Amino acid sequence: MAMNGQSTGSSHTRVASVSTPNLRTIGFAVNGQGAGIEKKNDGMAESDIGIRAFVESDLVWAVPLLERDFASSTVVSRGHVIDAAELPGIVAVREDEPVGLATYRLNEDDCEMVSLNSVVENIGAGTALIEAVATAATATGCRRLWLITTNDNLHALRFYQKRGFSLAALYPKAVDQSRALKDIPRLGADGIPIRDEIELELWL
Ligand SMILES: CC(C)(COP(=O)(O)OP(=O)(O)OC[C@H]1O[C@@H](n2cnc3c(N)ncnc32)[C@H](O)[C@@H]1OP(=O)(O)O)[C@@H](O)C(=O)NCCC(=O)NCCS
Repeated sequence: MAMNGQSTGSSHTRVASVSTPNLRTIGFAVNGQGAGIEKKNDGMAESDIGIRAFVESDLVWAVPLLERDFASSTVVSRGHVIDAAELPGIVAVREDEPVGLATYRLNEDDCEMVSLNSVVENIGAGTALIEAVATAATATGCRRLWLITTNDNLHALRFYQKRGFSLAALYPKAVDQSRALKDIPRLGADGIPIRDEIELELWL
């Protein structure tokens, strides 16, 4: 998600409950495999991905997961520094092991997905988490789910667009400004210079 952030205090507010998402609404099968912090795809046979609320005891693996992809648990989004580890979130599990995490911020009319990270890729965790965040957002009356990614993250741009998100805005050189708030590398995925923020949205 974004390379930005802001500390939001020390309380670890979590969603109280998360209903099982109807994954058929976005048309993807959900399967699974084991946990770990390195990206994995162990090729195990299909098994269901479950979801549950992000709770305090998850921090022991969730913070290293956020650090793996964002260098720290803080991200920067639209000029705001956000500690994703302090936000409400949803955990994807397979066989009781965490395989992914999404965190989000609920606003009056919309919901920002602040982070989305899979411990184990390509088993359906990311898809299940998007659907679960969309369900949680809809339940509170949000009409729009949005997120910020960066210009280098072609994998994420592909991933989100295949799941119904569309490009909503381009913020040229926004990451250059974010470097005043967080140490962000110059080069990102595939050696692409990290410069711009891209906003994607999904109407709920
Ligand atoms: C982007 C990211 C969250 C995607 O998560 P993911 O868990 O791999 O997503 P899914 O498993 O739901 O889907 C990935 C692919 O696996 C496929 N897949 C799902 N279950 C599968 C299974 N059992 N067997 C084979 N393939 C499967 C999906 O069809 C999908 O392919 P497609 O995009 O071509 O349709 C993940 O790559 C990640 O953590 N990236 C690093 C952090 C990051 O960049 N986050 C986004 C920042 S904005």
